[in-house]
Amino acid sequence: MTTLFSGHRLGELALPNRVVMAPMTRVRAGTGGLATPSMARYYAQRASAGLIVSEGVQPSLIGQSNPGTPGLYTDDQVAAWRPVTDAVHTNGGRIFAQIMHGGRVSHPDTTGLRPVGPSAVAAVGEVFTPGGRKPAPVPRALATAEVPEHIRSYADAARRAVDAGFDGVELHGANGYLISQFLSPNANLRTDRYGGSVANRIRFAVEAAAATVDAVGAERTGIRLSPGGPFWGIEETDVPELYTELLTELSRLRLAYVHLEATTDEETLLGLRRTWPGTLVMNPVLPMGPKQTGRAEADHWLGLGADLISFGRAFIANPDLVERLRTGLPIAPADEATYFEGADNGYLTYPAYQHSA
Ligand SMILES: Cc1cc2nc3c(=O)[nH]c(=O)nc-3n(C[C@H](O)[C@H](O)[C@H](O)COP(=O)(O)O)c2cc1C
Repeated sequence: MTTLFSGHRLGELALPNRVVMAPMTRVRAGTGGLATPSMARYYAQRASAGLIVSEGVQPSLIGQSNPGTPGLYTDDQVAAWRPVTDAVHTNGGRIFAQIMHGGRVSHPDTTGLRPVGPSAVAAVGEVFTPGGRKPAPVPRALATAEVPEHIRSYADAARRAVDAGFDGVELHGANGYLISQFLSPNANLRTDRYGGSVANRIRFAVEAAAATVDAVGAERTGIRLSPGGPFWGIEETDVPELYTELLTELSRLRLAYVHLEATTDEETLLGLRRTWPGTLVMNPVLPMGPKQTGRAEADHWLGLGADLISFGRAFIANPDLVERLRTGLPIAPADEATYFEGADNGYLTYPAYQHSA
């Protein structure tokens, strides 16, 4: 019987369990988007996960969404990641980098550049800047001739990720960032080959995935999607059709995995499970929703045919989450106040379960 603690083959990796650490931005990178020794300790503490997916990592300066996030577009950034991936491997773990281009969810105060998007439509909400939260600006619509350079940025970052010792990459196609903006009929008003019909709106995602597969191999390439997710003003009206076509195209590329968020109804998600023949990573609850993923949600989705389950918030306060799940130990609550600030506090300060003597 498949349980959270049975192994799973993912490309060339043998995962010892089915617990994935979900990508979580923690805003603790150094100047120039450099990974730090604290980040190496944080991820190494969590190396018992079957797979770690890193926080979102920008593939270019213009792709940076939040201040204080790491990048994978300079040689210095590659060098700074190396101790992180080494520390995870030394502790017996495996780690993919999440490549996240923010598109319109960005700000000139953060990058010095006007954000770009599929169309000149602002995200809904306030974005983080070095001077606090500010209304999301109207992005500059990419010209058709500029689109390939942004597609290439995912593949270039993937190549750098592998150079830095990552076992693979996850393209961030969820939560209202650039790939998600192209998928969405209200963020993408284009009339060229990247907009309009479903076949055109999925083209950016499929070309980014194909370029990444060419760069680092299908067995090292995953993608995260949030079907129907209402993030940053995204409204998708044709969720089953859009994601069925997308997964059908992606299945031709034989990606290592698709990582789905439970952002639409279970029936639609089960239909997508049937469409996608490869490894399915399921994130069972709404991001930032009131309830966080636990053992019950994980077992529910394994029963419905997910291969791997990703846990976000539970990993923040429980570096030994796999052991706690395995032995039924209590799951410690995370302090929201230190999600995005606090340096090592609320980052390296959560201990493994302390058994009383
Ligand atoms: C602090 C924090 C940062 C997050 N950053 C990212 C991110 O960089 N990329 C991403 O795809 N999801 C991100 N998420 C969403 C999580 O990956 C996950 O989908 C969400 O927390 C729900 O799962 P959970 O109930 O297990 O926490 C973040 C969530 C939290 C709490």
